[in-house]
Amino acid sequence: MKIAIGNDHVAVDMKNEIKAYLESKGIEVVNVGTDSTERFNYPVSGYKVARMVADKDADCGVLICGTGVGISLAANKVKGIRACVCSDPYTAKLSKQHNNTNIISFGARVIGIETAKMIVDEWLGAEYEGGRHQTRIDMIAEIEETQHLKAAE
Ligand code: RB5
Repeated sequence: MKIAIGNDHVAVDMKNEIKAYLESKGIEVVNVGTDSTERFNYPVSGYKVARMVADKDADCGVLICGTGVGISLAANKVKGIRACVCSDPYTAKLSKQHNNTNIISFGARVIGIETAKMIVDEWLGAEYEGGRHQTRIDMIAEIEETQHLKAAE
């Protein structure tokens, strides 16, 4: 498994800890985030991780900024990306089971490192359930593709 990880200037420490944590489990981690605490615009990392996942250069992605919001918004603008910002392991797990998220995002100013590790563990350990959930994911893709949703007419 290969994971792309990205962050902004407020999440350097948490990025490094999560990267080391994943590597300790034998996962390959590609760091495309900043390693500096100089002000850094989070869309750059959000885009880079999203691009890698969309292009299948990584299996999935982890994004961390102050809240996890801005960086996930940027990632979600890339076609095929389903990035979820979450602060709890339950949401992380369900976001994979029901929404087939391919990027998980969280906030270094919002949660602590132990919760971040639990989020990553639950997310990576969960399986997409498909079935009825695929209908909804297809609808999301239709909105992305056409800026319209026939079912909402
Ligand atoms: C940076 O100050 C902050 O805005 C950023 O880390 C993030 O929280 C944005 O969503």
